[in-house]
Amino acid sequence: MRKPVIAGNWKMYKTVEEGLALIEGLAPQVSANTKVEIIVCPAAPVLGAIAGAVSGSNIGLGAQNLYPKEEGPYTGESSGAMLKSVGCRYCIVGHSERREYFKENDAFVNEKARAVLAAGLVPIVCVGESLEEREGDRTFEVIGRQIDGALAGITADAVAGIILAYEPIWAIGTGKTATPEIAQEVHAFIRRRLAERYDAPTAEAVRIQYGGSVKPANIDILMSQPDIDGALVGGASLTADSFARLINFESP
Ligand code: PGA
Repeated sequence: MRKPVIAGNWKMYKTVEEGLALIEGLAPQVSANTKVEIIVCPAAPVLGAIAGAVSGSNIGLGAQNLYPKEEGPYTGESSGAMLKSVGCRYCIVGHSERREYFKENDAFVNEKARAVLAAGLVPIVCVGESLEEREGDRTFEVIGRQIDGALAGITADAVAGIILAYEPIWAIGTGKTATPEIAQEVHAFIRRRLAERYDAPTAEAVRIQYGGSVKPANIDILMSQPDIDGALVGGASLTADSFARLINFESP
């Protein structure tokens, strides 16, 4: 059984003060939930303060980005070891905003995923097609290429412990969610791809989150799909009540 994993990607929102207020509102609403692995991913300068606020709770800490070198003259960047030293257990890589605004390609996403693993952290590896790619019937081709690229050279043992996130770009921050059927279809495709690349037990072990306008109104139906193992959430993770409702989703 795959444990559901729900992560809040705060993006470039929330100062220390705002982040602490969010955790203060969230923690008591989710403290009894033992069914879901809970993660918050604040911006880098805010990680340390939030690490303190979530320590001893059932909320795990993740980073939104890292630079795939151990250390060195890379002004403005953070290594996996640095993220670990402030209390992170996870790190997002390959988010479509980084692919688009910072021109990160599959090879760089792969370097980052390996660096996250080398630091002893769990990568949350994002993939997703654009609207143009979906309308051009290229969804599976694009997702397949992104999966193969991101996971190149990563062993079955390591892959079994990672988290993948399917985030169709046309659904991110747009209010347009993929229907549960569309999401399930792509999640099942990803799992088949993992079975082909590795083996069936590895594919069965990997958790695949859906991301893109997840909100209280659609979480229950999304989570009822057999291959959807969680959610990567932007907007609806920024207020305590809505994020708590996602974490405490109801099974039909
Ligand atoms: P959204 O963002 O929930 O605001 O659509 C999701 C994401 O970018 O991870």
